Amino acid sequence: MQNSYKRVDAHLSSLGYCSRSEAKKFLKMFQVCVNGVRIFDVDKKVYHDDVTIDDKVLDPESITLLMHKPSGVICSHDDIGVLIYSLLPERYTKRNPKIATIGRLDGDTTGAILLTDDGALNHRLTSPKSDVSKLYEVTLTEPLRGDEEEIFASGTLLLKGEKKPLLPANMKIITETLVHLEINEGKYHQVKRMFAALGNKVIALHRIRFGEYSIENLAVGEYKLLS
Ligand code: URA
Repeated sequence: MQNSYKRVDAHLSSLGYCSRSEAKKFLKMFQVCVNGVRIFDVDKKVYHDDVTIDDKVLDPESITLLMHKPSGVICSHDDIGVLIYSLLPERYTKRNPKIATIGRLDGDTTGAILLTDDGALNHRLTSPKSDVSKLYEVTLTEPLRGDEEEIFASGTLLLKGEKKPLLPANMKIITETLVHLEINEGKYHQVKRMFAALGNKVIALHRIRFGEYSIENLAVGEYKLLS
């Protein structure tokens, strides 16, 4: 567990409560206490765990969360449209380091997505070497042709524009236009391209699980802190 020791203005600003230049005013407006004693000096050095604001402990020093992504929100910091970060408390969006999605889901894809301000964790889970399993529910426009399970499992499917075939993937048939597909890599638009390669089209895509994290108890747009 971190418990950093920093100037209070720098610390509050890195957690998104206020900017450094607003810190003086912030300390006047809110009861910022260290071990229960109110402070007014912006240069006072504090341990994270000792600070309260109006009797509430500070947000965690590092945040990782699991969200149930709705359709129509975009996993980007600088695209146009409704960004996934607009579903978080405003304070979270002002943190430094920034909270970012771990990988991306397309705008029209729903389901489990992790967000974190831990750059090393993000890198580990999104690097090409990462083999985190992701489970998708896939709705198709056309009925299955029959050989999809075998082709996906073979580890020989080469997507357009790629040099190496995909790793074996596990498909379970639910109905002739609905399947569960588990993949262990994350190429651009991978699921849609896998079905396009076999002449089908994905009309709805929902990620049930990312690694060990499933969104079972989260309503659309809701999130829960993992750390
Ligand atoms: N595969 C896709 O095609 N889209 C997603 O959003 C995720 C996986």
